[in-house]
Amino acid sequence: MKKLKFIDLFAGLGGFHLALADLGHKCVFASELNEELRELYEKNHQTKIQGDINEVDINSIPPHDILCAGFPCQPFSKAGAQLGLNDPNNGNLFYKIMEIIEQHEPEFVFLENVSNLKGHDEGNTWKVIHKELSKLYDVREEILSPHHFGIPQHRSRFYIVGRLKKKGGLDDFKFPEKEVNENISIHNIIIEDDTDFMTLRENTKNHLDVWQEFLNNLGVPLSGRALHFNLFVRSSQKGFPLQSLTQRTSTTNHKLAA
Ligand SMILES: C[S@@+](CC[C@H](N)C(=O)[O-])C[C@H]1O[C@@H](n2cnc3c(N)ncnc32)[C@H](O)[C@@H]1O
Repeated sequence: MKKLKFIDLFAGLGGFHLALADLGHKCVFASELNEELRELYEKNHQTKIQGDINEVDINSIPPHDILCAGFPCQPFSKAGAQLGLNDPNNGNLFYKIMEIIEQHEPEFVFLENVSNLKGHDEGNTWKVIHKELSKLYDVREEILSPHHFGIPQHRSRFYIVGRLKKKGGLDDFKFPEKEVNENISIHNIIIEDDTDFMTLRENTKNHLDVWQEFLNNLGVPLSGRALHFNLFVRSSQKGFPLQSLTQRTSTTNHKLAA
């Protein structure tokens, strides 16, 4: 396989880096705002990493074949205020990616965000992102989660892949097929005799026992899938009354139990 050069924007701990370096590709530039994450990144990947991407001179970024960016998700996350691309703090960072793309025209782009990005603002945010990328790239997108690939974690993320139209686009590209495996379990990855682990607090164990009893009493076969309902409180709603939250939760539980 041809060895490619990649850049890792909004690098975090370096998930993209790990995958691409494993395939033999080389990181030529990385940027991450958080200082502690930068220290970890340098230790883990032995790569110099720069800070705030807004402070970087785009011309100083070396030529590269792949641009990776897990751009900040708060503007689109269900747990945030959902201001999207208009978020004065982080919403503009997609346009920073576009500036770099327009300047360097990497052959491939790999972007990642929360799955809520697709439906945010009734699909308009994704429409804008898709339109911008499509000026140069053939674009595909898919929501994937580790539990689709045998890993016991539910973490749905929106993945966007693009290849320059002038290099042939994405004709041959397919996202990997999701596997349905009802038997994925946390026990498959826990090393039981490892001594370097933390045990659950007694209170937490009690909560789990009560939850399990509730599930048993439901009498519904759950085939290994977690029963849950989403509960989100916007960070902008600092004065949200706890009373109404607990009332709503107990009403929901009551309905479930009935
Ligand atoms: C969703 S995380 C990316 C996770 C990453 N893909 C990984 O594998 O860990 C987004 C990251 O963008 C960083 N970030 C936010 N604003 C930034 C900026 N202006 N410049 C560089 N990094 C930034 C955040 O600190 C955060 O770590």
